[in-house]
Amino acid sequence: MSKKILVIGSSGQIGTELVEGLRTRFGAENIVASDIKQPQVAQDGPFVMVDAMDRRGIERILDKHGITEVYLLAALLSATAEKDPAFAWKLNMESLLIVLELAREGKLKKVYWPSSIAVFGPTTPKDMTPQRTVTEPTTVYGISKLAGEGWCQYYHQRYGVDVRSLRYPGLIGWKSAPGGGTTDYAVHIFHEAIKHGAYTSFLGPKSTLPMMYMPDAIRATIDLMEAPVERIKVRTSYNLAGMSFTPEEIAAEVARHFPGFRMGYAPDQRQAYADSWPNSIDDSAARADWGWAPRYDLRAMVDDMVLNLRGGQG
Ligand code: SER
Repeated sequence: MSKKILVIGSSGQIGTELVEGLRTRFGAENIVASDIKQPQVAQDGPFVMVDAMDRRGIERILDKHGITEVYLLAALLSATAEKDPAFAWKLNMESLLIVLELAREGKLKKVYWPSSIAVFGPTTPKDMTPQRTVTEPTTVYGISKLAGEGWCQYYHQRYGVDVRSLRYPGLIGWKSAPGGGTTDYAVHIFHEAIKHGAYTSFLGPKSTLPMMYMPDAIRATIDLMEAPVERIKVRTSYNLAGMSFTPEEIAAEVARHFPGFRMGYAPDQRQAYADSWPNSIDDSAARADWGWAPRYDLRAMVDDMVLNLRGGQG
């Protein structure tokens, strides 16, 4: 039976690139993109408007298109969520429970749901943070991701739902704009370097965070979902690592391409969220279970970002 995928939250930073990756792999007509916002890029396959909290609306799409898998990406991210914690909790949890219920009822074969390094908190070991460790998040975003991981594992253990998940680090890409995260500075820096030759970071110079280039993140996501079921041993969410760097370090790499580039620092509330998260992640479980390995380090990522953003400028 052929695969038909619904991506909920397809107009966001990950969705934009994941839809493209899935369409390349499985055929444009087999991937239905959906969001409450218009797409960031032109679509070569189906796009429908639907609210991630509208169970009936989602069910209608499943029936109409014969959907077999859902990738649920709709969420408020760390910084946006802190502005409206109650709504962030509602959106992040309700949308997940709707999809898990649909899977429990047999309407879906597989579900993908992203978690985050935000499940960790100030009491978590900061360096090479293990797969299983203290998780005491201090952001509502982190609380929702941690609870969601628990629900994923519960639906798997109790009902046999095949739900798979990754704890993404900060994601950096040139095809789509990020929306409301603490790690967004590492995307903004490129656009500002091109436009103004300068950037003021909302995180201080020494804030080390785990990050990943989007092509690695998309490959990890599809590889995880395509791995044979017996390889998936973690049913909360897999640690996933690409690279780690500070604002100062990425500024130095960006400056190689933009001589005279000036970096300033004006830390705001997001500094506290960054301070509560790990410096680096141990992803040995993902490597051992389904063969994960990243391809991009800081330099390779910066080179590719600049090449593509400059190309895009003509
Ligand atoms: N990149 C996300 C954020 O900063 C972390 O999952 O909110």
